[in-house]
Amino acid sequence: MTQKTIAEQSTGDRLSEKLIAFSDSLEKFESFNLHLLMSVAMGGIAPRGNILDAPTGRPAWHVGISVLGHLASSGLAFRGVVPFVVDEYLPSIRKEAEVQEGISHRTGPHTLSPGGAVAAQLAHDERLIAFVAQKVGQSLRPTGISSYLYYNQTGDHLYPHVDTEIFAVNFILMVKHDLPEGRTDGSALVIFDADHQAKRVPLDVGESVVIRASGTVHGREAVGEGERVTILTIGFEDERARVADA
Ligand SMILES: [Fe+2]
Repeated sequence: MTQKTIAEQSTGDRLSEKLIAFSDSLEKFESFNLHLLMSVAMGGIAPRGNILDAPTGRPAWHVGISVLGHLASSGLAFRGVVPFVVDEYLPSIRKEAEVQEGISHRTGPHTLSPGGAVAAQLAHDERLIAFVAQKVGQSLRPTGISSYLYYNQTGDHLYPHVDTEIFAVNFILMVKHDLPEGRTDGSALVIFDADHQAKRVPLDVGESVVIRASGTVHGREAVGEGERVTILTIGFEDERARVADA
C-alpha cells in the first residue's frame, strides 16, 4: 500500500467516524436529508462508479459508502431465479415493459416508466412479499411502487446511488437483455458493499436480486453499442424506518 493510499484511507476513516457520530445525533428528518445528500454526492464523485479514474475523490467515496451503510441496512440479500416470478409473470411483464416504454421518459442517462397492472400485481403478490421479507430477515411493507428502467441508447447507465425509503428493499428483475451478435457479456448491475469493493452482478433474463438498497450504493454499467437492457424494480419499505412516522 502506498503512502498516499494510507493517507487517503486514514482521512476517510476519520471523516467516516465523525460523520457516523454526527448522524447518530440527528432527528429522523435530518437523517433522511443527510442520506439524500450523500446519495446524490456518490453519483457526483464517480458518475459511472469509476472511482479508480477519480483518485482525488476516493476518500470521499469511501466515506459515502461507510456512512450510507450506517444510515440504513446494506447488502445483497438474494441473487437467483424465483420460479413463480419467471413461470407466472415474466412473459406478461416482458409485454407490459414494451407497452410502458411508449410512455417512458428520459430521467437521466436512462429511460423510465411506471410499472403497469402486471408489475403492480407482482408487487402485491403475497408470495413475493414473503420471499423478500425472508431474504432480508425483517417484516416489510410493499409500497406497490414499481418502475421499468430502459438502457437502450449507447452509454446509458445508472449513477451510483442509494434508494429512498420507498425502495429501502429493492427487488430487481432482469426483463430483457439484448446483446449484439458476438458479445456474451454486457452491462451489469454493480454494488459497492461495506468492503468498498465494486461487485459486478450480471443477471440473465428472469434472474432477480434483492438489495437492501437504501444502504447499499449501487448503479449500472453503461450499455455498449447495440445493447439493450430492461429491468423491473419493485420497492419495499422497512416499517421501522418510516420517516412518515417521525
Ligand atoms: Fe436504485
